[in-house]
Amino acid sequence: MEPKTSFSLVILVILSISMAKFSIPAKADHNEHKETKISVYFHDYASSGPNSTTLPVGPDPKSASVGRGQGITVTACLDGLNVYVSLLIVFTNEAYNGSTIQIQGNNNQLKVIREYGVVSGTSKFRYAKGYATFENYFFDPSTSYSIIRCNISIRH
Ligand SMILES: *[C@@H]1O[C@H](CO)[C@@H](O)[C@H](O)[C@H]1NC(C)=O
Ligand SMILES: *[C@@H]1O[C@H](CO)[C@@H](O)[C@H](O)[C@H]1NC(C)=O
Ligand SMILES: *[C@@H]1O[C@H](CO)[C@@H](O)[C@H](O)[C@H]1NC(C)=O
Repeated sequence: MEPKTSFSLVILVILSISMAKFSIPAKADHNEHKETKISVYFHDYASSGPNSTTLPVGPDPKSASVGRGQGITVTACLDGLNVYVSLLIVFTNEAYNGSTIQIQGNNNQLKVIREYGVVSGTSKFRYAKGYATFENYFFDPSTSYSIIRCNISIRH
């Protein structure tokens, strides 16, 4: 069988993240992992217009930013429904400046809620393990602008 172009869609993603909600429990015992829950909103200009962020270089949206989502999405099945996501969240806000969270997984991109694993982290998120859900929060088809809510729950 002729191999189909499973890797036809490779998108470098640079998304602005804003309006984060952090919930950090009291200091954990040294033997215990602490749990951190974070909600961030990805501002995604998917069109090929001047503000597109699904290109290697994209301009910053105006909202107050707490970081960037940087990574790739690749179609990962023959019918094109599943995408493989490898996304690094790079924080630039005061609390987590320079720390990162690595999200990876493969999911049906049309699902209302897509869940991926959190496989690692750096700095304040060293040893991070957990999961992240992605859900469409807003979409304007005329401009291909979307806001995607990403809830992250990690132990680290
Ligand atoms: C692109 O962003 C600029 C600056 O934020 C804005 O003035 C302009 O309307 C945007 N263009 C589109 C097509 O969204
Ligand atoms: C984050 O770190 C960079 C480099 O160390 C620094 O320039 C920047 O001011 C810091 N940002 C915040 C919000 O603390
Ligand atoms: C994400 O977090 C928000 C705010 O806490 C909540 O309303 C929403 O239901 C959560 N989404 C998922 C998929 O858990």
